[in-house]
Amino acid sequence: MILGAISPKNKGDKRTTLHPESIKPLIDIGIEVIFESELGKGIDVSDADMARVGAKATSREDCLRRSDLLFTSTPISEDEINLLKKGSIFLGLLEPFSNREQFHHFAQNGITAISMEFIPRITRAQKMDVLSSQSNLGGYVAVIESAKNLSSALPMMMTAAGTLRPAMVFVIGVGVAGLQAIATAKRLGAKVQAFDTRPIVEEQVKSLGAKFVKIDLGNTGQNEQGYAKELTEEQIKKQKEIQSDVCVKSDIVITTAQIFGKPAPKIIDKSTIKKMKPGSVIFDMAIESGGNVEGSEIDSIQNIDGVKVVGYSNLPSFVANHASFALSNNLVNFVTDFYDQDKKSMSLDMKDEIIKSATLVADGKIKEGF
Ligand code: NAI
Repeated sequence: MILGAISPKNKGDKRTTLHPESIKPLIDIGIEVIFESELGKGIDVSDADMARVGAKATSREDCLRRSDLLFTSTPISEDEINLLKKGSIFLGLLEPFSNREQFHHFAQNGITAISMEFIPRITRAQKMDVLSSQSNLGGYVAVIESAKNLSSALPMMMTAAGTLRPAMVFVIGVGVAGLQAIATAKRLGAKVQAFDTRPIVEEQVKSLGAKFVKIDLGNTGQNEQGYAKELTEEQIKKQKEIQSDVCVKSDIVITTAQIFGKPAPKIIDKSTIKKMKPGSVIFDMAIESGGNVEGSEIDSIQNIDGVKVVGYSNLPSFVANHASFALSNNLVNFVTDFYDQDKKSMSLDMKDEIIKSATLVADGKIKEGF
C-alpha cells in the first residue's frame, strides 16, 4: 500500500500531516510512504530529514495519482479529486460543513472519503481525535497571544517597586480548548474564572484551580457525544447580562463557545465591550465559525472602545511543530488500527463505530445527511 501526504492549500498553514517522528510505525508494517516535496517546510523539516526516516519526496501530482491512502489537512479542488486513484482513500480534515460539493466528486470517482472531524468521542478513538489535539494547542496559543497584547504581566509580583496585581482571565466555553486556556493562564500566574453551559464542567474548572462562574440558564446540557446543546435566544440574553459583570472586571476574556456543525453563538456584544477596561483583550477563538464576539474580524485585531478584540484563525499553526506531531499521530493511529497486514491494505468495516461515523463517502455513495 502507498500512503501519500500533500501540503495544505492554504499557504499560511504551517502544519504538516506527516511528522518525521510518526513515520516509523508505517514503515514497520510495510507501508510505502511518499509525500509532496517541501511538506515539512513550515516546521523546518527538509525532504532529506523525511528521507532519513524512510519517506520519499515526490511531486504533488504524483502523490495524488499514486496514493492508495492520502493524508490531507484541507479539502482539494475538483480537478485534483479527478487525479486520485479509483478505489483510494482520502483521509483528513475535510471541512465537511462548508465543503459539501467535494462529496459528489469523491462519489463519482469511486474514492472513499474519511473525515477526521467525525471521529466519535469514544475512549478507543481518543488517539485519533484531531479536533481535540488541535483545540488543545489552540487554547494554549490563545492565552500566549492574549498575553502578548496585554500591557501588563500575568502573575502577581511583589517587588521593591510595589506589588503588581495578577491579571484576571475569564474563559467562556470550557471544552478542550477552554480547559487548556485555563491551565495555561493558571501556569502563567493569572487569576482565572470560567463559564460553560454544560454544568458538568464545573468540577473540571475547579480541579484546575479556577473559579466557575455560576449562571443559571435553566435547561442546558450536552448530547451523547459531549457537545453542548444550542441555547434559546432568551437563554443567550440572560447569559450575556450576567457574564457582562465578569468581563468588565477581566483583563483578558477568551471565548471558545461552539455548537458542533452550527455557527458559533454571539455571546459578547458591544455594550459589554464598551464597559470593559481600555487596554483589556478579548480573544475570540470561535472566529472561524462566525465568532462569539460582536465586531471581531478574522485574522485581525479590532480596537473597539479601547479593547483589543483578537480574531486569529488557525491557532494550531502558531505552534506548527507540535500541532503537526499531534495531527500526524492522530492520522497514523487511524491507519495502524485499521490496516490489514495479510491483505496489505486498509480494512474498513462499516460496522465499526469509528469507520461508520467518519466515512462520509464509500462505494460511490454519500453518507445520509450529507
Ligand atoms: P466545542 O469546541 O464544540 O465547544 C467548546 C465549548 O463551548 C464546549 O465546552 C461547549 O459546552 C461550550 N459552549 C457552547 N455554547 C456556549 C455558551 N453559550 N456559553 C458558554 N459555553 C458554551 O467542544 P469540545 O472542546 O470539542 O468538547 C466538547 C466536550 O467533549 C467536552 O466535554 C470534552 O471534554 C468532550 N470530549 C470528549 C472526548 C472523549 O470522550 N473521547 C474527546 C474530546 C472531547
